[in-house]
Amino acid sequence: MQKNQHSYENLFEQSKTHNQDHLFGFWNKLDDSQQNRLLMQIAELDFDRLDELIRNNVLSAEPFPLPQKIEPAFFYPAEPKNDKQRNEYQRAWEVGENALRAGKVCAFTVAGGAGTRLGFDGPKGMFKISPVLNKSLFQLFAEYILNCKKRYNPDLRWYMMTSTTNHQETIQFFKDNNFFGLNPAHVVFFQQGMMPAFSTDGKILLDTPSSLSLSPDGHGGSLRALRKSGALDDMRRLGVEYISYFQVDNPLVRCLDPLFIGLHIQSGSEMSSKSLSKAHDLERVGNFVIGDDKLMVIEYSDLPDELAHAQNPDASRKFDAGSIAIHILSRNFVERITEGDLKLPYHRALKKVPYVDSNGNRFKPTEPNAIKLEQFVFDAIPLAQNPIVLQTRREEEFSPVKNADGADSPETCRRDLSARTARWLKRMDVHIKCDENGYPACGVEISPLRAIFESDLK
Ligand code: UD1
Repeated sequence: MQKNQHSYENLFEQSKTHNQDHLFGFWNKLDDSQQNRLLMQIAELDFDRLDELIRNNVLSAEPFPLPQKIEPAFFYPAEPKNDKQRNEYQRAWEVGENALRAGKVCAFTVAGGAGTRLGFDGPKGMFKISPVLNKSLFQLFAEYILNCKKRYNPDLRWYMMTSTTNHQETIQFFKDNNFFGLNPAHVVFFQQGMMPAFSTDGKILLDTPSSLSLSPDGHGGSLRALRKSGALDDMRRLGVEYISYFQVDNPLVRCLDPLFIGLHIQSGSEMSSKSLSKAHDLERVGNFVIGDDKLMVIEYSDLPDELAHAQNPDASRKFDAGSIAIHILSRNFVERITEGDLKLPYHRALKKVPYVDSNGNRFKPTEPNAIKLEQFVFDAIPLAQNPIVLQTRREEEFSPVKNADGADSPETCRRDLSARTARWLKRMDVHIKCDENGYPACGVEISPLRAIFESDLK
């Protein structure tokens, strides 16, 4: 074998220097293709950076650092409060539509997650969710984007981040479905980075004797992947200035929302976010707060209980603005913060991760045994100039598919999709029988090709 920087000798030396030479523990038992696979994975590791992460985030189990001073965040209300604000929203809508027409906006879906909680074996976007026609999450987004292409600009681009585990299957699904009518050249797939899992004493885990235990590096990694994949260059070439970011799990999302885009532009914001009023104090959504004078999100798992339950003098919830992971990011901003190393913190999670021990036996742990590290996209908000938050109404824009049953499940999501359609129709004087909560007795569906806003039904 040649002695280049990816050669066995070089990588073995490096891993030894960094106390990770157990990765080569089975080297002599591997065939050529297994050896190559292992070398390729090890060559991707940045050992110096990993040393720092192991020291600060793996070996140290400090809770995520919180700001000293935590205050509620300000936001634009879902409905304008007075005439001045009504005019501002009206103007913003026009500014947003103009940006869409001028080709300055693209859609961006993060779809690299594993979706283990849902128990669905495959890319989550393939999950069939629409209440009548059983369309997949991907199809509903595709139809929304097709509608916007017709309305605003036929060249509109859709970027999609996948990960090693679901990249090929995602692309194949789009091919099998003729890209749902989209121009394949206008749907750009790219993969996010992967991060190894660590034992609690800081060793990188092997998944098999010839492969590392790797998982996606968190949706914060999407910013790095936008640059690394060439997507940012592509956007610059096309004149795209604003990135409309959303998760793969929420079919009620407005993939491209003129009001949100317009407010982002009008306020000179570099990263904007949508929020909603939390369903209860401990709802599993991030919390918008002003932390040490900066707008930021504190994840539900990091918000101290006394703050989650804190009340205003009128007994309303003090920290009520929940994050629904919908953002507009200015392309310039993403370019700036991804120059050099992406300076977002890592979040540590103790998980059950199968691994191969030094004797070559594979274990499937029943208790958490390993540390996974992820970066979160919302940690970029404090780095942005003039970040804003726009409140939205839950029943209009948020009902994710996360769990197999209970809250945020396919059942609640289909129910909410139907209820939204029934509500839109009711205001057009088409009445569908609903129970006292406004949930229709049967599934109701209108294709996003036909209507993405209630006003489209007029
Ligand atoms: C997430 C947010 C939470 C927010 C909620 C709204 C985090 C940590 N928390 O919670 O603040 O209130 O959504 O629904 O994100 N993904 C990738 N690559 C990754 C990891 C995730 O693309 O490496 C994508 C997933 O495909 C999914 C999305 O990010 O589209 C959310 O990931 P998930 O882990 O399900 O986050 P939640 O805990 O549901």
